[in-house]
Amino acid sequence: MADRTPTRKTKAKKSSSRASGSRKPKSPLLAKNARNGAPAATKAPTPKHFLSDKVGHFTESVIREMTRQAMLHGAVNLAQGFPDFPAPAEIKQAAQQAVAADVNQYAITWGAKNLRNAIARQMQVWQGITVEPEKEITVCCGSTEAMISTLLAVCNTGDEVVIFEPFYENYGPDSVLSGAKPKFVKLRPPKEEGGEWTFDEKELRRAFDRHTKAIILNTPNNPTGKVFTRAELELIRDLCLEFDVLAITDEIYEHILYEGTEHISMVTLDGMRDRTVTINGMSKTYSVTGWRVGWAVAPEKITNAIRKVHDFLTVGAPAPLQEAGAAALSLPAEYYGKLAEGYRVRRDHLMPALTAAGFQCFRPRGAYYVMTDISAFGFKTDVAFARHLVQEIGVACVPGSSFYRDPRDGARQVRFAFCKKPETLDEAARRLAKLHR
Ligand SMILES: Cc1ncc(COP(=O)(O)O)c(C=O)c1O
Repeated sequence: MADRTPTRKTKAKKSSSRASGSRKPKSPLLAKNARNGAPAATKAPTPKHFLSDKVGHFTESVIREMTRQAMLHGAVNLAQGFPDFPAPAEIKQAAQQAVAADVNQYAITWGAKNLRNAIARQMQVWQGITVEPEKEITVCCGSTEAMISTLLAVCNTGDEVVIFEPFYENYGPDSVLSGAKPKFVKLRPPKEEGGEWTFDEKELRRAFDRHTKAIILNTPNNPTGKVFTRAELELIRDLCLEFDVLAITDEIYEHILYEGTEHISMVTLDGMRDRTVTINGMSKTYSVTGWRVGWAVAPEKITNAIRKVHDFLTVGAPAPLQEAGAAALSLPAEYYGKLAEGYRVRRDHLMPALTAAGFQCFRPRGAYYVMTDISAFGFKTDVAFARHLVQEIGVACVPGSSFYRDPRDGARQVRFAFCKKPETLDEAARRLAKLHR
């Protein structure tokens, strides 16, 4: 298991070809001695550095690595956020029907019309926002691709992107790949039982300046379970307006909310309609993380740029699954209530087991993760603890450091996912009871 910081700089070597600057024959065989036609005695070329400098600035995903570790050690996988229960029967049928009906060729690059219409309808129903499906929606291969396509479409080298940390680990590498510099603002854990993760208004303001291009906002939040309040969103909105900044919002847990918490989309706030990219997808709401269907909703000009990037990255998202997506987004409103209630039950199943085992749990208000404090176990780092947990106890979690720029900030935290069957959570609880404080 790698100890890792997503955006920590590793010194990337300069390409030797660039360093030398002189023109050399493509192959030593082509270099002839001008006088006798014999091959010239060429110096062995310095080997080229074949990798992009960019990839030196991050490592592969710790979350996905923990899934591989779970498989290796036969551990219960509470690391990666994918359900281990079936997806809704109606949408699986819709996918099967689409394949049978030969919806098997490329869809329109920016998304099948049926799905874009359904997304626009949902935006109207849930956010009260009217969106033009022909001009403002791009369907991508998951919200993951929607996020990187958006950043590639809007960022220039030297632009800065504000990110709350702990953050969903993709955002760090996404910023680096798009040439932007991430600027992190801390979310601080609740001080008292059942309290909220909060941020310091002054610290947030300090992160904004004339180089700031965008803020990435994930609400409901992974990994903290924080759901940003209207007052917090208004504060962020005011900064976006003052510094002429875009909001790129990741709302894929929009329907997974507890205790009457309200999800507010940034795009609905006064002044934000023209400066917000709203990202969402099917993975979490319909329990189909493997289908890879997500989308970005943005003003026309930004959508045109996102569509260009998306086209050349992937051509399009899976065509039959987009048709099934249109069916999924047409499920009745009760579906969403049941989804959230199902996750509340799972949360309340796992949290007591974690508390009994010695974890301090930060109660999530939304999404399907619980961030915990592991101080009681006396391990030096979260990575050492996570290794012990997966190898000796048989439960996989995600080390907290993978959600922070500076690994020390997450050294006393680990995250558990509870999007699992009751039997899976029972088995995890049985194993966690073997932990020693
Ligand atoms: C905050 C957040 N955004 C995006 C994703 C990935 O979503 P998708 O499957 O739509 O690419 C995840 C997955 O865990 C997530 O937690």
